[in-house]
Amino acid sequence: MELKEAILNRRTVRRFNSKAISDETLLDILEAGTWAPSHGNNQPWEFILAGPETRGKLAVAYRKAMESGPLLNPDLPEERKQVIRNFSMNFGDAPVILAVTCAPALTDLDRYDFPMSAAAAIQNILLAAWEKQIAGVWLSFGSTPQARSLFGIPEEGKIAGILALGYPEVIPPAQPRISAINKLSKLP
Ligand SMILES: Cc1cc2nc3c(=O)[nH]c(=O)nc-3n(C[C@H](O)[C@H](O)[C@H](O)COP(=O)(O)O)c2cc1C
Repeated sequence: MELKEAILNRRTVRRFNSKAISDETLLDILEAGTWAPSHGNNQPWEFILAGPETRGKLAVAYRKAMESGPLLNPDLPEERKQVIRNFSMNFGDAPVILAVTCAPALTDLDRYDFPMSAAAAIQNILLAAWEKQIAGVWLSFGSTPQARSLFGIPEEGKIAGILALGYPEVIPPAQPRISAINKLSKLP
């Protein structure tokens, strides 16, 4: 698959079929994450896989977070709420739940750079996965104290993202994009 094709065709997927991701395939995908750029090549990311026990606790915490957050939002369309309800049953049946975390930052520069490098690793992971017909969703749930605690993240550490990965059951249509020309400004 061409890189541009993968970039343009990758979609966030929230429903997965029952096919498992082999350990070898998962490691191969994560390996792509390690080729992301990082300040001074400091590679601040760590990958933490949730086993069945952790996953069960995460699912309960995630459902509660959705029920007390987005699902209470009167402005959120019912269709979107249904997607959230379905996904929050069991992370859309994704066979893999993992957190991409970054090391505790010791300096202001690290605080600035570490999450960005980890985010770059996540994008690599999603693209490498897509090339293997595997998709995922990047969850902001990693920002919550419950998720941090369940993944055992120290106070100063961060979860850059929790990823649910699997083989898609449903691939949603592309979300619209604002063209780069409308995001571009030029300084004198
Ligand atoms: C930092 C970040 C956090 C996100 N958090 C969530 C989330 O909590 N739940 C969710 O369903 N999707 C989440 N997404 C996925 C976005 O909704 C999705 O990327 C966006 O709608 C564009 O769709 P696409 O990825 O298919 O192009 C997140 C994406 C990013 C980059």
